[in-house]
Order: sequence, then structure tokens, then C-alpha cells
Amino acid sequence: MHLNKDEEKMLDGEQGEVEKNLFRLLIRLGDIYGADKMIPVGSVQVAGVSYKSIGDPGMEFLEDFAKKGAKVKVLTYLNPAGMDLENWEKLGFPKDFAKNQIRIMNAFKKMGIIVTSTCTPYLAGNLPRFREHIAWSESSAVSFSNSVICARTNSEGGPSALAAAICGRTPNYGLHLWQNRQPTVKIKVETDLDFNADFGALGYYVGKQVKNKIPYFTGIKNANTDQLKALGAAMAASGAVALYHIEDMTPEADIVEKKGLETISVGKKEINDTYKKLNSAKDPDIVILGCPHASLREISTLANKLNGKHLKKPVWICTSRVMKEAADRMGFTEIINKAGGEIVSDTCMVVSPIEKMGYKTTGVNSGKAANYLPGFCKQDVVFANINKLIEAQL
Ligand code: F3S
Repeated sequence: MHLNKDEEKMLDGEQGEVEKNLFRLLIRLGDIYGADKMIPVGSVQVAGVSYKSIGDPGMEFLEDFAKKGAKVKVLTYLNPAGMDLENWEKLGFPKDFAKNQIRIMNAFKKMGIIVTSTCTPYLAGNLPRFREHIAWSESSAVSFSNSVICARTNSEGGPSALAAAICGRTPNYGLHLWQNRQPTVKIKVETDLDFNADFGALGYYVGKQVKNKIPYFTGIKNANTDQLKALGAAMAASGAVALYHIEDMTPEADIVEKKGLETISVGKKEINDTYKKLNSAKDPDIVILGCPHASLREISTLANKLNGKHLKKPVWICTSRVMKEAADRMGFTEIINKAGGEIVSDTCMVVSPIEKMGYKTTGVNSGKAANYLPGFCKQDVVFANINKLIEAQL
């Protein structure tokens, strides 16, 4: 692999042992995937933040790193943590868990990482530009940046993203290269999609069918960015789709090569079957929206539905701290709180320990959350659109 002078110095340890070891990790990764060189990254997003996911070994590893003076070189954000970092006590997060989660956040902060924990960094101040090379970890954020923004990233693991943040580089392979961004399967959508949950159901179905291929969608008449994030998140969860194109919608769709692709059709039946498959219960203990983390538009939609109402069961909407602050200013938080709901920041239904907080059945409108909740959080799932979920609680 070709290395420039600065990279040679990094490898020689001129910038410290931590950087040297992490750069070696990136070189090893590049060698495995046949990278010709390193490329600078504009930003990084690091997964493996929740104490629930990384436990004591991960926490101690990060603290050790921070103690040795590891510092990030580029704008670096974090994936959701295991709890709301400000409101955890009121929401019922266990004290021991909170103590360890705070230690993890302090270690990241010491490394110069912005401790904004979100899977929608592009809504919270980390917006890459078209064709910028980045190194992001969270699969829904990877999908959104590759497909909707067309900034280029592979699906990084926690350690390789941290290495990219500290070295400011990533190996040049995979989705950083134009030839690897071409579609490999065509998806013909033959039904209308109305709710974000419909896009989640479509994504779940397609991800199962295509695994890690690159879909080129036709027949999607309209979609806002919330719906595109729901689609990409579900495809990345049920399959391993890190990039998709949509005819007349996503930026690279016009210029990719789409001749001679195998075609899969998806109609009303496949969407209805997916709803049935993802439902394992009827009556949730709690409804949690905001997977991926909610935009201000999604929060305002919920506030409109709850204005002047009273909820029978808890309803949370998960989002970034930045969106929560905007919701506070707009009065959405007050409306949601008055109805008995909560805007929960910094965390989500999958990476927080909801199974230890007394919840057994969760209602969601996200194909990704419906995919992960049974395994990660031992939850039965009610998967439906926002209208059905909320109306049942009024
Ligand atoms: Fe984000 Fe958690 Fe969903 S990390 S994409 S809200 S499972």
C-alpha cells in the first residue's frame, strides 16, 4: 500500500504509540481488502458506546486509551449511549448502569470526541458533503450517508472507526470506490407507501431478500428524508445493505450502471406479510418511536397527535440532544410531557436496557427496531404505523 510521508511517520511512531498501533490496524484492514492507499476522512462516527453493548472490557479499553493520550484528528460523533445522559434517573435507568455509562462518555470526551450520541449525526451537526470520504459505524447512518448524501463510507466496526478518528485516515477500498457503488439488484416497488413504517417494512423485506447487495429501486413515487432513513435502517438490519439507489430520487441513481440486473418485485402482499411477520404481540407495555433517531418533523408529528390528550401507557420518542433542544424551544416537549410521553435523548430502545426496566412488549414503527428488539432486548413487538400505535394509547 502506498503511504505518504506523514503516514510513514505515523507508522514509525513519531506521533506516539497509540496512533502507531491504530495505524497498523488500518493498514492490516487495507491489506485484507486490497486497498492501494490511505485516504483522509472528513468525519467519523463511532459505534460501541452503550455500556449494555461493550460492558466492562470495552469501558476499561476506552479509559486506557484516553489515559494514554489518544486524541481524535477529525470531527467525531458517537452512536447512541445506553441511557438519556441527563434524564436517566427520572426515566428509571438503573444507577449502576448509569455510573458505568458516564465513565464511558468521559473517556470519549477526553479523546476529543463530541459526546453527542446519535445514529442521525447528519441531523445533529455532522453533515458530510457529497462524495466526501468518511468513516462511520452505525449501519443506518452508513446507509443514509452513502445513499442519500452520497458521502462515501464502508460500514466500520467500533475499533476501525476509532482508529480512523485518531489517525484521520481510512483505507481506500469498498464503497469509497466508484466501481463498487454500482447497483447489483433491481427492486420494482408496485405499491404505494404512506407511513414511515411502510418504508421500514419495505426495507426489512428487501434486506432479507438481497442480503449485502446494492439495490436500485424503481416505483417509489415520493419519500421524505425520514422515510429514506427508515428504509435504509431496516435494509441494513435485516440484510447488510450499506448503499441503495432510488430512481429519480437519490443523487447517484442517474449515473450508475443499471442494465441487466436481476429484478425483484415488491407489492402490497409482501408489505402486509412483513407487518404480520414482525408482530409478535398486540398490546405494548410501552411505545418507542425514533429509530433511527427522530427528526424535528417526526417529533412535531407526535406532539400534534398528543396535544391535549392523555396516554394510557408510556410513549417515548428517541432523538439526539440537538433535536431535543429544538423541540424544547418549540414547545413540543411540553405538549408530549403533559400527555405523559417523553422525548428521550442520547439513547434508543435497542441499546438501552429496557428489558431490565420492566418492559416486555414494545410498540415500534421502525423495521430496524422490530428486527432487533426480540434478540437484543427480549421484547415481544407490536410493529405498526404511528397512527395505529398512538391511537391505541389515547
Ligand atoms: Fe438508531 Fe438505535 Fe435504531 S441506534 S437506528 S435508534 S436501533
